[in-house]
Amino acid sequence: MTGYNEKNNCLYVENISLEQIAKEVGTPTYVYSTENIRNQYEKLQNTMRNVLPADHQPMLCYACKANSNIAILSYLHSLGSNLEIVSKGELHRGLKAGFDPSKIVSTGVGKQKDEITELLNAGIHQFNIESLPELEQIQKVANEIDKFANVVFRLNPDISGGGHNKISTGRKCDKFGLSRNAVFKAFAMAKNMSNINATGLSIHIGSQIFEVETFKTAFKKLPALVSDLRNEGHTIECLDIGGGFPIVYDNEQLLDLKAYAQWVNDIIVPLDTKIIMEPGRYLVGNAGVLLSKVLYVKETEEKNFLVLDAAMNDLIRPTLYDAYHEIEAVQNRNASSKTYDVVGPVCETGDTFAINRDISEMSAGDLAVIKSAGAYGFCMASNYNTRPLPAEIMVNGSNYEVIRKRQTIEEILNMDIIPEWINS
Ligand SMILES: Cc1ncc(COP(=O)(O)O)c(C=O)c1O
Repeated sequence: MTGYNEKNNCLYVENISLEQIAKEVGTPTYVYSTENIRNQYEKLQNTMRNVLPADHQPMLCYACKANSNIAILSYLHSLGSNLEIVSKGELHRGLKAGFDPSKIVSTGVGKQKDEITELLNAGIHQFNIESLPELEQIQKVANEIDKFANVVFRLNPDISGGGHNKISTGRKCDKFGLSRNAVFKAFAMAKNMSNINATGLSIHIGSQIFEVETFKTAFKKLPALVSDLRNEGHTIECLDIGGGFPIVYDNEQLLDLKAYAQWVNDIIVPLDTKIIMEPGRYLVGNAGVLLSKVLYVKETEEKNFLVLDAAMNDLIRPTLYDAYHEIEAVQNRNASSKTYDVVGPVCETGDTFAINRDISEMSAGDLAVIKSAGAYGFCMASNYNTRPLPAEIMVNGSNYEVIRKRQTIEEILNMDIIPEWINS
């Protein structure tokens, strides 16, 4: 994995040992490799540069729901990325990271009135619309504050894509997007709206899509639809083809980016529109690990349990999506292996990172990493069991920075309010 290497039988992120980070910052801690993020961004950009014509290069909008730490956003901004957001909070993060609002795309099925107002006032690039009532709401708000909204309509292509039922978003039964008929209705409605400029379509069928032909099947829905919409007099000058690029968690056969780019070239480019892509996981997923300490090795008649100080509240993907994450020892990496169930301290059997996993034999106090945790990791963490949110670290060559301080118990407790009448 780019950015990760072994020296003296110990795991390093770039030139910093994870042992050093654990000693200086504590555990559990998310650690990200800058080199890995840059490598992924450049790989995606270069593949598109090599395959797509210069005048149809995509506008790459990082889907910051994957990891919205402002340092990560700033870094991607410095590489030239644009931004995709799903909330007012993400807008604020994006602006703080330096993104030009006119390079920000807003998606999501439940945009609230105050969010729409802020997005319009900020002057974002476009709203990706998911329902007819949402279109009406944006027109209403834009009219009230005398603003103009560029919108594209999200097509629900009725295609199953994504690495798990819960992250598949393109089926008819999913809450996302509009049917073909509803897209026509939306364009017709938009024509009569004073503050709406309908510019095209979007499509996003799911996340961690490694049935790669699925992308092609989805793209193939677009030419006929674009042609029929144009024949009805609608302008289609933008196609947002979403994210969903997969990363390695285990030893999956990954999407061949060149093949993907070739499909974009063959199917999307001839439609002669601006092209937007929304990669999230791909840019940050493999860059991050969750660094943790072994609290106990519990041996029963049935199993060997490694009880870590990280738990499901820090990384929920294994229990939420049955997601596989590789787990490795940080030190003594050539010790003989032993089979463990790797669990956290939370009071649920679901607080399990791995079952029957062969890992170098470990003892209490040793360090372990849960790999490929850079996407949908920290950003989905919670305070369940009143466990403070972990720290986040960004490594750049021989330096590292704390990019989010570890939360304290006091900070958690300070959010609660005891009504006076209880103790009066
Ligand atoms: C509309 C939209 N775009 C982009 C993404 C990013 O997906 P991924 O992280 O798989 O690239 C998502 C993820 O849920 C999404 O809903």
